Amino acid sequence: MRDVAASAASTGPRVLPRNDPRQYDDLAGEWWRPDGAFAMLHWLAAARAALVPPATRPGELLVDLGCGAGLLAPHLTGKGYRHVGVDLTRSALLQAAEHGVRVVQGDATAVPLPDGCADVVSAGELLEHVPAWPRVVAEACRLLRPGGLLVLDTLNDTALARLVAVRIAERLPTVPRGIHDPRLFVDARELVAECARHGVDLRVRGIRPQVGGLVAWLLRRARTGRPGTTPAGRGPRIVPTPSTAVLYQGWGVRNG
Ligand SMILES: C[S@@+](CC[C@H](N)C(=O)[O-])C[C@H]1O[C@@H](n2cnc3c(N)ncnc32)[C@H](O)[C@@H]1O
Repeated sequence: MRDVAASAASTGPRVLPRNDPRQYDDLAGEWWRPDGAFAMLHWLAAARAALVPPATRPGELLVDLGCGAGLLAPHLTGKGYRHVGVDLTRSALLQAAEHGVRVVQGDATAVPLPDGCADVVSAGELLEHVPAWPRVVAEACRLLRPGGLLVLDTLNDTALARLVAVRIAERLPTVPRGIHDPRLFVDARELVAECARHGVDLRVRGIRPQVGGLVAWLLRRARTGRPGTTPAGRGPRIVPTPSTAVLYQGWGVRNG
């Protein structure tokens, strides 16, 4: 395995270590391009938002840990939440704010928000980027009010995930090289146990892009030769799959 990788072949010569957060600055122009380097994050955001029911009271709070550029925001429209996003990366937060997210620059392992403030906490594609991911889980559960909902998705700590999400995916033109450090992938059983320790009974299920939609998207993208020209919302749906071995979602309610 390489220790370093080009941050993004299309954006310049800077070479950064795997999972270096500065990659998100180099890729700042990609967040909202529907066929760009973060296209799959849009599909995953739609699938994550589907786990979030509409708010039952006015002004319920959804805290979006590692919110990036706020890709979850359009999928929450009409659900009635105040959407607060926490992220390390200022260039991403500036874009999240443009999409209606109230942003907080900070570390998801030490969030400057009070205990029990959140009706929903989301951690989409975040845990596999944080060396101390159990601390993010502890923070997510601390922020949740009793009865509040945790939703997340991440990559499993398996040989198959390393093969698919790093060795294969990073050869595709659509996936930034070096964006993941496979040493940080998150064992699903350990995650469930960690959530239980903090009062959340997490259920998990495997997810993947729907194959026909993915092939159609890749073909369309190759045909246009101009990434970003395909209309938004035309990517594949994310669907459940029997195995959690690569990508999985988790959701659970905080006890108490
Ligand atoms: C793969 S992106 C996912 C962004 C967003 N959740 C989404 O699905 O579109 C990972 C994000 O996590 C952020 N991040 C990484 N480590 C973090 C930390 N310790 N605290 C807060 N944000 C972090 C990065 O800046 C980046 O925006």
